[in-house]
Amino acid sequence: MIDAFAIVSPLLRLLDAETAHRATVAALKTLPPRAPPPDDPRLTVSAFGLDFPNPIGLAAGFDKNAEIPDAMLGFGFGFVEVGTLTPRAQPGNPRPRAFRLIEDRAVINRYGFNNDGHTPALARLSKRARRGIVGVNIGANKDANDRIADYVAGVAAFADVASYFTINVSSPNTPGLRDLQQPEALSELLARVIEARDAARVRPPLLLKIAPDLTLDQLDSIVRVARERRIDGMMVSNTTISRPAALRSPLAKEGGGLSGAPLFGLSTRMLAQTFLRVEGQFPLIGVGGIDSAGAALAKIEAGATLVQFYSALVYEGPNLVTRIKRGLIDVLARDKEALSARIGKRATALSDAN
Ligand code: FNR
Repeated sequence: MIDAFAIVSPLLRLLDAETAHRATVAALKTLPPRAPPPDDPRLTVSAFGLDFPNPIGLAAGFDKNAEIPDAMLGFGFGFVEVGTLTPRAQPGNPRPRAFRLIEDRAVINRYGFNNDGHTPALARLSKRARRGIVGVNIGANKDANDRIADYVAGVAAFADVASYFTINVSSPNTPGLRDLQQPEALSELLARVIEARDAARVRPPLLLKIAPDLTLDQLDSIVRVARERRIDGMMVSNTTISRPAALRSPLAKEGGGLSGAPLFGLSTRMLAQTFLRVEGQFPLIGVGGIDSAGAALAKIEAGATLVQFYSALVYEGPNLVTRIKRGLIDVLARDKEALSARIGKRATALSDAN
């Protein structure tokens, strides 16, 4: 098979990161629809009442406006998350606002929830044939008077078309948004979104996406509130505002959230810490720096039932999904241990790994 990514990737590198991303989305919109390749039954995962053909998902931010979920499912992702979507369209921060740290296999972004708003995304999702798992990641407008009401509006708007919801309180690029991770605010947020979900005709599972920059005390209270409110799952993690000392790219000083390879250690540790606190009450999705089957497996052993990635797409292209799935199958065939048996197996060790 011709690897189209290998051909266009040097050309995309000539463009700034945002222009390259826009060109990619525009190109993917023109692809004829194609069914996802069938998956090996050993990769099947059941979680949140959904049956995933494989545990590898596309993380939020790549398809912010729900323009290409089916094209991305066609590459073999087990699920695709669209958004973050806010009720009203908003332009986000001034450009440039996305940077490739090539030497570090990383990305920094400070987009600030640029998106078309609920209405166009809802129209697109309503038109598609409901095949494949498509989650909707929801957030609040920058200038919202009542931020929680924006999340409630997201749940009410997309309940019929979302396989699951991600409540994103962890983007570093909307000032004050991460304050919703504080216990009182979080408790109110979760109560109100759960109420909105329970009032809907279809009731998709609700997942909470957290930052990797929390203290363990903060994580204690987040997990306590999530368990009290009976959320369906958590996603760990979003991008980091920290900058690991070893970064080599001159762009490392740009403001915004860092993702990709340098986020792997921090987000995997936070995932393991979350797993130890959740005590099996709900499943976790592991996100941050996955770029290989080994990295995906490490997330599972840290406590993830499912995983997602975004940044590695920039460096490896969409065929990475197939390579990760093949790598997982090789390990399963070799060790004769089901993926489900590995979940959290190394959580204690990975919870304080450097
Ligand atoms: C993101 N991410 C993100 N997350 C989210 O919840 N809503 C969003 O709108 C975005 N936007 C976004 C844009 C860009 C350019 C990047 C690179 C990332 C975060 C993303 O979903 C994921 O949590 C992190 O990037 C960590 O995973 P990777 O990229 O290291 O695999």
